Amino acid sequence: MLAGKRIVLGVSGGIAAYKSVEVCRRLVDAGAHVSPVMTAGAQHFLGATTLSALGSEPVRTSLWEGADPIPHTTLGQRADLVLVAPATARVLAAYAHGLSTDLLTNILIATRAPVIVCPAMHTEMWEHPAVETNIALLKSRGVHVVEPEAGRLAGGDIGKGRLADPVDIVASVDRVLGKGDLEGLRVVVTAGGTREPIDAVRVIANRSSGKQGHAITDECVRRGAHVTTITTTELPTPTAVERVQVETAAQMQNALDAAVSNADIVIMAAAVADFRPTRVVTEKIKKAGGVPEIVLEPTPDLLEAIGRSRRIGQTIVGFAAETCDLVANARSKLERKSLDLVVANDVSAEGVGFSHGTNAVTLVTAVGERELALRSKAEIAVGIVDEIVRIRGAMRSVDAGRVNPTN
Ligand code: CTP
Repeated sequence: MLAGKRIVLGVSGGIAAYKSVEVCRRLVDAGAHVSPVMTAGAQHFLGATTLSALGSEPVRTSLWEGADPIPHTTLGQRADLVLVAPATARVLAAYAHGLSTDLLTNILIATRAPVIVCPAMHTEMWEHPAVETNIALLKSRGVHVVEPEAGRLAGGDIGKGRLADPVDIVASVDRVLGKGDLEGLRVVVTAGGTREPIDAVRVIANRSSGKQGHAITDECVRRGAHVTTITTTELPTPTAVERVQVETAAQMQNALDAAVSNADIVIMAAAVADFRPTRVVTEKIKKAGGVPEIVLEPTPDLLEAIGRSRRIGQTIVGFAAETCDLVANARSKLERKSLDLVVANDVSAEGVGFSHGTNAVTLVTAVGERELALRSKAEIAVGIVDEIVRIRGAMRSVDAGRVNPTN
């Protein structure tokens, strides 16, 4: 996505400096060349070695180190984008008023590349008129500002000022560099395993952690989509996501009914229970009453219903967690449920599927299969979204051919 793009990642001195590590990793994973620059303050919060190890080159901290006598102009001139995360009140003020006090502020003034600043500070500082004026001034000059979030701040205070989520920050980089290939599209993702109640305390559950569904959510946000995530988990979602919390298959069905008709892409990563108790006991079933007989009934197949009622232009993706005949089972689901793509994984293999941080999948489409060997769930998400973009591109070419058969 960001292949070949040179990004200066400026880190200034706030507690949120630790989140720049995640930003750096995501940018490098997306193919960017990241040159990290830390202010003196940042080095109180984060070891330079960490960013040197994750970035594409060693961290620079000063105008006066290394062989290059003018690192600020070298870095500033060759950058495609300068990103400051976190940006403190001091750095924002210096940048707004053209004050070049250290390497980072020199780069900000020397560069002609687009600049994104991601402020992070205590609420009182964020709301101070001086900071507000500086932000307004920077915006008026075309600087992109990724606003801080409300939440828990250093020292336990709650309020606006927390650095934006790294996923949102990287999504803003994609947007500014014009690389959001899901820009303007609405995506619905389901994640986690449903829990079907037996009585007041017991449920029928499955082993799905929801990590893969949430990684797909992050990837779709990063590529500019408007995402609705229907989840059974406690995993976080970027602030831009419309999150719907559910527990049972019936609740997931209601949430899907509300979201799917507007969606361009539906990705059913959730492990929906196939069976649920016919009757839910409202109290706790006591042991003294003997082993209870639990009668099960099938749940409706949510994905099949979505496939059946799909509208033109929608892309529908299902998952298949299998223990044998991976491709044959996935292909049968692809056809039976009228899907565009089935993401199949062999959950009996080492490091694959449920609760692992890694996964290995086979992408099954009408035209063939593609394997994504064992890798992080974030990287699997990139592969899945790439395939969806490819399928939609192929669909558009077929439609264009139909409109003008001479093409
Ligand atoms: N799914 C669904 N509703 C259900 C069961 C499954 O929408 N009641 C969806 C899942 O979200 C997944 C896909 O169907 O995307 C495949 O789920 P899976 O359980 O592997 O397949 P089934 O069709 O239920 O077939 P089987 O369990 O026999 O393998």
